[in-house]
Amino acid sequence: MQQATNTLEHQWLPFTANRDFKADPRLLVRGEGVYYWNHRGERLIDASSGLFCVAAGHGRREIAEAVHAQLLECDYAPHFQVASPLSFELASRVARITPEGLNRIFFANSGSEAVDSAIKIAQAYHLARGEGQRSRFVSRERAYHGVNIGGVSLSGMTKNRHAFPAVMPGVFHMRHTWLEENRFAKGQPETGAELAEDLKRAVDTFGGDTIAACFVEPIAGSTGVLVPPKGYLERLREICDQHGILLVFDEVICGFGRTGKAFAAQSFGVRPDMMTLAKALTNGAQPMGAVAVDERIYDTVVNAAPERSVELFHGYTYSGHPAACAAGIAVQDIYQREGLFERAAELAPYFQAAVFDLRDIPAVADIRGYGLLAGVELAPDGAPGVRGYDATKRLFARGMHIKFTGDSGIVSPPLVAERAHVDEICDILREVLSAY
Ligand SMILES: Cc1ncc(COP(=O)(O)O)c(C=O)c1O
Repeated sequence: MQQATNTLEHQWLPFTANRDFKADPRLLVRGEGVYYWNHRGERLIDASSGLFCVAAGHGRREIAEAVHAQLLECDYAPHFQVASPLSFELASRVARITPEGLNRIFFANSGSEAVDSAIKIAQAYHLARGEGQRSRFVSRERAYHGVNIGGVSLSGMTKNRHAFPAVMPGVFHMRHTWLEENRFAKGQPETGAELAEDLKRAVDTFGGDTIAACFVEPIAGSTGVLVPPKGYLERLREICDQHGILLVFDEVICGFGRTGKAFAAQSFGVRPDMMTLAKALTNGAQPMGAVAVDERIYDTVVNAAPERSVELFHGYTYSGHPAACAAGIAVQDIYQREGLFERAAELAPYFQAAVFDLRDIPAVADIRGYGLLAGVELAPDGAPGVRGYDATKRLFARGMHIKFTGDSGIVSPPLVAERAHVDEICDILREVLSAY
């Protein structure tokens, strides 16, 4: 199907080189299973699950039909003082698979909103306990926590912060966990747990009782997949416990099977106090985010409010949107019925081996990975990101969609992928990257 290209001028695309895109547009017009089709009718394998959201594959009729039926039944219901029953059903479904105790679900519409909601919930919790002085947050270099002001403040990806100086004050950034000695380390690196001591340094510098929460992605995804060193998350947990700091895992990419369990918290055996979720929550079919909150936090905040008064002055017009909830429930059904988290765990060793086989390509500077998530980092060519951008375009032209951040390609196929799809992805990567 040929689409007119003279109609692109009105939209300002996010995170895009708009002039370049409009000169040579890459339009995705159809999706089915592990594939997209572009506006020229060419098929592309989806190596990044869209943006890490399409875990159950594209074109799932069950989801479309559930959304369609729900829109006909009740298209919209506010969630301030009234609610749709579906939002309770989805909350129960999610709570069933979260780590024990993280069973109170607050709905938002994206990962960014989930992060900003979690920031506020952390503050509300400490205030309710009489510790309103805990105004600081700790996060990490190279972190991505979305694009709202709270999330950008926590973010450690320099380009995402660069143009926005007016961020939230009082955020301390721990060092990231990439170490030269761990190049091409498979799974969790053996060394680097000591980097968690940076949280202790924040405690020593500012006082543990001034810190509300420590936010980390269990695997830092968007920056190019940094898998936590062995013992690192455990040590963060210990320091948080010693100082009454909440530990928040941003599982927007890791959640819903990507690591081979429902959540990375379970894969790594570390229980946070809150988790931020989005993306595969609805398979990307409807915009939705959520915070899974420890019941102790919920009880503290809710019980501190006087009778018949609102306890958290926060929420969105579309929190718990019925269509998104219908999608979410249909998606949880698929995950369960098709055992997709277990399937991801089964495919992971094959996937990791195939991706790590690319290490002999001269332009490949590092590979990292865990579960069905891997980062293939290219040696920069001039300014950082130039080669990654060029590779994105060359790979698209060769029939593959993949998200690059800087010079790192983030490989994360849908959890429904077969070994043959993994081979196809790695063959295309080899062919295109070998040309550098
Ligand atoms: C860890 C993490 N947090 C938050 C977000 C932001 O999610 P959204 O783009 O849905 O706002 C992302 C997006 O990639 C993410 O990877």
